[in-house]
Amino acid sequence: MNLLELQGISFTYPDEEEPVFTGLSLEVPVGQSLILRGDNGSGKTTLFRILNGLSFPTAGKYIFQGTEITEKYLRDNGQAKKFHQRIGYLFQNPDIMLFNGKVYDEIAFGPRQMGLSEEEVAKRVEDCMELFHITHLADKAPYHLSGGQKKRVALASVIALNPQLLILDEPFAGLDGKSKEDLMTFLQQWKAAGKTQIIATHDEELTKRLGDAVYTM
Ligand SMILES: Nc1ncnc2c1ncn2[C@@H]1O[C@H](COP(=O)(O)OP(=O)(O)O)[C@@H](O)[C@H]1O
Ligand SMILES: [Mg+2]
Repeated sequence: MNLLELQGISFTYPDEEEPVFTGLSLEVPVGQSLILRGDNGSGKTTLFRILNGLSFPTAGKYIFQGTEITEKYLRDNGQAKKFHQRIGYLFQNPDIMLFNGKVYDEIAFGPRQMGLSEEEVAKRVEDCMELFHITHLADKAPYHLSGGQKKRVALASVIALNPQLLILDEPFAGLDGKSKEDLMTFLQQWKAAGKTQIIATHDEELTKRLGDAVYTM
């Protein structure tokens, strides 16, 4: 079963003449780890914006779990909420994802939005902080953390939603060796739990250890 399908999608930014890509087709089965490659400017981040419902194809169709994702579909708040909860998106620059005063609240934000009780929220936040070795940072301001720590916090906040699809945009950028190894191990565990992931990376080791398929833009 496919988690998502792209059927001949094209995308052109407003006021631009040249499309970023045209006629892009892709099927991602449930549980697949797909590695996305392509030079700078080839459209990886643009594709991720479409997969997350932040931009919409100018032609072709994006189908997620059997439903075509359009601007109109996501205008319904209930539908939009359900859709966004199923996809965890780690931005290329996680700085712009962090807006809470404390690491704890940053990670708790999504679960609170989902309407979980504060007790359930605490359990999720604590589990996620442990997973990414950031428990000691709970009361710190994300703004003051190092690049690698910010990335861990951003990832923990994404994982706290328990998404069905994890989308990571160049997750190793700015990480030291130990953080990379930790992240690689986490992604392998997440995959073993049957989760689908799409990762933009040129890292050979990650591709070898995790990738079921590679798509080049
Ligand atoms: N907001 C935007 N408006 C206009 N053009 C953009 C915008 N964002 C990206 N682009 C252009 O779209 C192309 C693809 O960019 P991007 O998706 O960021 O590629 P990648 O992530 O593979 O480096 C590039 O030519 C880039 O300059
Ligand atoms: Mg990019």
